[in-house]
Amino acid sequence: MKAAILGGTGVYSIDGIETVNKTVNTEYGTVIIKKGTGKWDNLYFISRHGSDHSIPPHKINYRANIRALTLLGIERVFAIYAVGSITDIVTPGGFGLVSQFIDVTQGRINTFYEGGKTGLKHTPMDEPYCPDLGSKILISAEKRGFPIANSGTYLCTNGPRLETPAEIKMYKMFGADYVGMTGATETALARESGIHLAAVSYSINWAAGIKQDVEFINDKEIEETKNKLTEIALEVLFDEPGECFCNNQQS
Ligand code: HPA
Repeated sequence: MKAAILGGTGVYSIDGIETVNKTVNTEYGTVIIKKGTGKWDNLYFISRHGSDHSIPPHKINYRANIRALTLLGIERVFAIYAVGSITDIVTPGGFGLVSQFIDVTQGRINTFYEGGKTGLKHTPMDEPYCPDLGSKILISAEKRGFPIANSGTYLCTNGPRLETPAEIKMYKMFGADYVGMTGATETALARESGIHLAAVSYSINWAAGIKQDVEFINDKEIEETKNKLTEIALEVLFDEPGECFCNNQQS
């Protein structure tokens, strides 16, 4: 089985794993994916903002990235998202399993099904994240004493600007626990592709207007917890798959 880690802000490589660059041509563009070597031959890694953090959220070629995973035969994905905290479910420096998303992006093409040659499909989003991978993540985290909230709603803005306090107030009323700029687009495309995707959010700040001390967690601090998260990802991605219907969605 092949699996991938999709990393965001602060996650530009997988520590301790040698990789080679692999170029994948898709109908949406070319993607350079890092591929593990030796024991990790079946592991792939995409840094969605580029390894130098130069691609803003609204410019990421989400369709090319997800289609590349499909073309490589990758079935399982562990996605990591930096977020700003709205509720206390995940506070700055903390982690959470994402269970739902709300998409308020504008102008992004967030589907493979545009009609015409590509057809029309209304992919169900009742369960946007793979429940099997999700429960394995919680078990693996608990075993390691790694604190992680067991659910949370991710609200996806267009970015790249941050939100106004008034927007965050509204998003809180929507039911959002934290805010980011990439998660919904990526998840929807993965779900359309029948990929088993689980997502972990890590908070790097309080969202605008929530608390005054808006301190961004720096890359060094992220690095320290990243290794534990990588261990969890590697354990769950290559574990025996359990029951779920991610790759059997009715249209
Ligand atoms: N808003 C949107 N996206 C983010 C934030 C935020 O406060 N923090 C990290 N990603």
